[in-house]
Amino acid sequence: MSMINRTPFSLFSSHLDLAHQYWAALVKADDIVIDATCGNGLDTLALARFKPKRIYALDIQKSALDSAGELINKHLSAVDQEKIEWVLTSHVIFPSEILDNSVKLIVYNLGYLPKGDKSIVTKPETTLQSLENALKLITLGGCISLTCYPGHPEGAKEERDLLEYAAKLHPKEWSCCHHCWLNRNQSPSLLIIQKKM
Ligand SMILES: C[S@@+](CC[C@H](N)C(=O)[O-])C[C@H]1O[C@@H](n2cnc3c(N)ncnc32)[C@H](O)[C@@H]1O
Repeated sequence: MSMINRTPFSLFSSHLDLAHQYWAALVKADDIVIDATCGNGLDTLALARFKPKRIYALDIQKSALDSAGELINKHLSAVDQEKIEWVLTSHVIFPSEILDNSVKLIVYNLGYLPKGDKSIVTKPETTLQSLENALKLITLGGCISLTCYPGHPEGAKEERDLLEYAAKLHPKEWSCCHHCWLNRNQSPSLLIIQKKM
């Protein structure tokens, strides 16, 4: 008798579902990961569930880090909470203690904080600067995951600039893949950049 499970299922329904599948495949205990746009902490929580040894959660808004802290407090044990380092900073400058080639995954969820101040938004120039710095921190086989929101003009420019930049990375050193919905209008997309082993 065939053991194949033929129950219909949805492989992914959003760019975040897809991102989480990459993260799950990558992150192991002992890894260092960075949430470069912590916001309300949903991505930090998703990363924490993969049990890395250290998570740096960065945001320029204290209110975002506070809200993320509350979320984490509700869902994680004290031991797991201690693995998170909250950093009130722009992701242009990563904490100096993080060494080159030491981080398994850096995630960006671009745009503005849901239910927050929409004027505080990631910017194409600073996101690109941050990405340039992030490339140095990534381990061999590690990834940078960027979710882009081209539905507003600055987000569209940010996505364009990132794609242009990623397309020029040397194919011997980097694998770059852009996932976007073909049958949804101006929907979010996912750019994954992996440092080749
Ligand atoms: C779309 S939200 C992130 C959502 C979040 N990951 C979550 O799970 O709730 C984008 C966040 O990026 C932050 N941000 C904007 N510019 C930034 C910068 N230069 N450095 C770090 N964070 C920044 C905003 O304050 C905002 O909280």
